Amino acid sequence: MVNIKTVLLSVACMMALGVSAQPKLSKANIKDVVKAMTLDEKIEFLHGIGMPAASGSGPVTGSVQGKVPGAAGETQRMERLGIPAIIMADGPAGLRIDTIRSGEKRRYYTTAFPTGTILASTWNTSLVEEVGNAMGNETKEYGVDILLAPGMNIQRNLLCGRNYEYYSEDPYLTGHIAAAMVNGVQKNGVGTSVKHFAANNQETRRASVDARMSERALREIYLRAFQYVVKTTQPWTVMSSYNKLNGTFTAESKYLLTTILRDEWGFKGMVTTDWFSGKDFAAQVAAGNDLMMPGRPNETEQIKAAIANGTLSMEEVDRNIERILELVVKCPSFLGYKYSDNPDLKAHAEVSRNAATEGMVLLKNGLTPVLPLKKGMSVALLGNYSYKTIVGGTGSGEVPSAHNVSIAEGLQNAGFTINKELVALHAKYIAEEVAKLPPRTQIIQKVEAIPERLWTKDELQQLVANNDIAVITIGRIAGEGRDRKVDADYQLSEAELAMLNNASEVFHAKGKKVVAILNIDGVIDASTWADKVDAILVAWLPGVQAGNAVADVVCGKVNPSGKLAITFPKAYEDVPSAKDFPGVPAKKPQYCEYNDDIFVGYRYHNTKNVEPAYPFGYGLSYTTFSMSGLKLSGKTFNNKMTATVTVKNTGKVDGKEVVQLYLSAPVTSQEKPSEELKGFVKTKLLKPGEQQVITFTLSADDLASYYPDQSSWIADKGTYTVKVGNSSRNFLQEATFTLKNDIVTEKCHGMKN
Ligand code: GLC
Repeated sequence: MVNIKTVLLSVACMMALGVSAQPKLSKANIKDVVKAMTLDEKIEFLHGIGMPAASGSGPVTGSVQGKVPGAAGETQRMERLGIPAIIMADGPAGLRIDTIRSGEKRRYYTTAFPTGTILASTWNTSLVEEVGNAMGNETKEYGVDILLAPGMNIQRNLLCGRNYEYYSEDPYLTGHIAAAMVNGVQKNGVGTSVKHFAANNQETRRASVDARMSERALREIYLRAFQYVVKTTQPWTVMSSYNKLNGTFTAESKYLLTTILRDEWGFKGMVTTDWFSGKDFAAQVAAGNDLMMPGRPNETEQIKAAIANGTLSMEEVDRNIERILELVVKCPSFLGYKYSDNPDLKAHAEVSRNAATEGMVLLKNGLTPVLPLKKGMSVALLGNYSYKTIVGGTGSGEVPSAHNVSIAEGLQNAGFTINKELVALHAKYIAEEVAKLPPRTQIIQKVEAIPERLWTKDELQQLVANNDIAVITIGRIAGEGRDRKVDADYQLSEAELAMLNNASEVFHAKGKKVVAILNIDGVIDASTWADKVDAILVAWLPGVQAGNAVADVVCGKVNPSGKLAITFPKAYEDVPSAKDFPGVPAKKPQYCEYNDDIFVGYRYHNTKNVEPAYPFGYGLSYTTFSMSGLKLSGKTFNNKMTATVTVKNTGKVDGKEVVQLYLSAPVTSQEKPSEELKGFVKTKLLKPGEQQVITFTLSADDLASYYPDQSSWIADKGTYTVKVGNSSRNFLQEATFTLKNDIVTEKCHGMKN
């Protein structure tokens, strides 16, 4: 029996402290809970409790090893008010948590799914949603509330170290793939964190570099995909980026986080910083960056001082806390979800495999098709990464899965013969070379490339005598914390070129073919050596089932239908941002001028007539398709325009096509790209002779470009040309329509005002 005096006394104390009764958090009483917090509690609640201090990334508040070891961080728990901690974990290619837990025998494996670039290369939003659904299921079943994904920054320059996590050079494709990912994850009742908002297009000095760009480039290229995702999916959270944007840290930018994100786009969720982002925490709070992760001691002191000296108001503090609590009450940890710790990894491995096969891009296949290969063929399989296949990139986007299937294993599973000596030779060589590399202790640590072995002509002569074909894998890995280099990453090494050239010479002399497989994190040179080989398949970083997925395509079980989501240039110098990436001064860039402006990727190559090696949207199939009968719903644009076109499988095997719609808008006072992607549809699997009618709907938004002087998106009056094709440089059908009068489709807040 509680002594009545004690109760009265404690109530009196609380009243004296201005602390009302202790409400227990519910959806309905968030404001009461905020009122019931003491000032110290409020300040604490604005930041996470951090990942274990052992993370080596500097001091964090607390070092609680939360309920899910290996998660990236947690929000504060406050038992007094019924507030549980919310668990946040990476990443865009699957859930990253510790596989091993102290004192436990079992392992906590998750699934390494295909990474961002290969998912985008599927051009298949329903497939990406399926991947997101599987990722969301693993997130939920391992007790995590927020998956820190998707990474959706524009691939402005092919050297960016994190491009593997991102989708494309194009904002339309990026937005639609990211939206599918968000929907897939969030249908499980867990959240996402679309990142990194915004313009985190390089890793070099990412925490301080200032991305300087025109307002038009910002709106049309670097914000457009985020705008689409926020407006169509309402992601539970947005993660601000490390960098500055036009002089202000994005995490401190009220213009970005409040005026644009919330006031213009209607974002209803919560904004978190990136981990250890920034230094002016009071400015972050004021800007609308609700949560600071992973949480550092100096944040508390700074915010307390800011409140005391009036630079930070309690309204701003309370507002942010309310938004964090609105997130909390949606999460499984708050709802008491009994997670199994046992998601169906077998089923998810199949999802990973299917997505990987559909994202692989066949760049070359000879006049007489080399691929698919007949099962039972004996394959001279060369290249380290045929045997140590790279499934994903490095950094926070890394996913530790149980067993990664190598290309060698996958080909053997599919019934191809790889002679034992070759397998043994690679195993021994790779083990010796790996032993020379520094041990890897941090996920952010660079993974050194394994130098390719030099093959003598005699060895190759032996191989060609005992095998039907040569398959050579070129591997590249990169990741968070550093950008790629032209010589080491984009260009092939001497040993790689020797392997390709010598093997081609020897095999071709005997009338045998050579297939190159690119197991790469990002674009590499695919022009200086492409004429040496007979087929080129870009496998990207295909996830845990890598080898089986490659084999599915190589043996013809799956007809490749991937299309490039980023341009392969003929030379790095042809990349429009090559001149100013990663910024000035070269050694330690303080800023990067986005002089390419809106002309990123194919927008540049098409408008400025710089022919690429392989264009955006390009990819071959084992069959052929025609497109015909393009019809528009009218000659003039009224409110919307639909375009229908018929695609037909004119070849001999089942296949899928990506029907792409590009729009050429009338040139006015401001220059425009010659074409821009405004629609795409991945067909169903079409049998030979089967056709499918595809319908696109263009809205006024699709016609509009951004006019900074009017702070508006405007669809200009004039003649538009609809171009439908199977890449950004192969238009099979065209039709025009006119817009009689300008339409202001969106009024915005200009950067200046
Ligand atoms: C990292 C990354 C971000 C990740 C976060 C948590 O620094 O930039 O993408 O989600 O920290 O690991």
